[in-house]
Amino acid sequence: MFDVVVFASGRGSNFAALLDAQRAGAPFAVRALLSDKPAAPALDIARTAGVEAIALSPRDFPDRAAFDRALFGRAAQFAPDLVVLAGYMRVIDTAVVESWHGRMINIHPSLLPKYPGLRTHARALDAGDALHGSSVHYVTAELDGGPVIAQATLAVAPGDTPETLAARLLPLEHRLLAATVELIARGRVQLGAEGVVLDGKRLTDPLSLESCRAATNTL
Ligand code: GRF
Repeated sequence: MFDVVVFASGRGSNFAALLDAQRAGAPFAVRALLSDKPAAPALDIARTAGVEAIALSPRDFPDRAAFDRALFGRAAQFAPDLVVLAGYMRVIDTAVVESWHGRMINIHPSLLPKYPGLRTHARALDAGDALHGSSVHYVTAELDGGPVIAQATLAVAPGDTPETLAARLLPLEHRLLAATVELIARGRVQLGAEGVVLDGKRLTDPLSLESCRAATNTL
């Protein structure tokens, strides 16, 4: 089986979407949920689902590198094929990121390369963007800067606020993340030397949610 571990700092709805996809027959198994926030609701979702739930607190470690080595060390015990950052809100030590090169993805709520970092919905509205969305990308040392695999887009509506945009985007994020993990699990998508590869060919543009879902069999 293609084994996945998920990192989350908060609510965990994207993690829950991966569990739902697994139950629906997607060809991957979520082995553990890891968090930097011992009170994260995502941990309760894991416990309820019978998935291993692990939290460490950065406060208990001398620095970022020591914390990341410890938490990713726990993740490594599951020998995952893929690490999924799903609402994991900490910057990760560069050496740790590099040790998972090509085996770690993140979901970020903007149409990257637009708006890396925080407050993405507000920034899209401030800029007057007609389209907003979410991206799933391979994680590299550059924050939210790794090669983008797939994107879901959403039209901005008159009167939208950061909250209404986030609420409309969230169900699209769930589908996007599950479909992308499925494509990786099926061996169809990987990170090559020159970027994302789909079915042996380098992707020139990120996959859309529609093409991503069409390429999967179960979702
Ligand atoms: C999502 O919007 C994701 O794009 C961002 O953080 C949010 C996580 O939500 N990185 P949840 O914890 O999965 O519900």
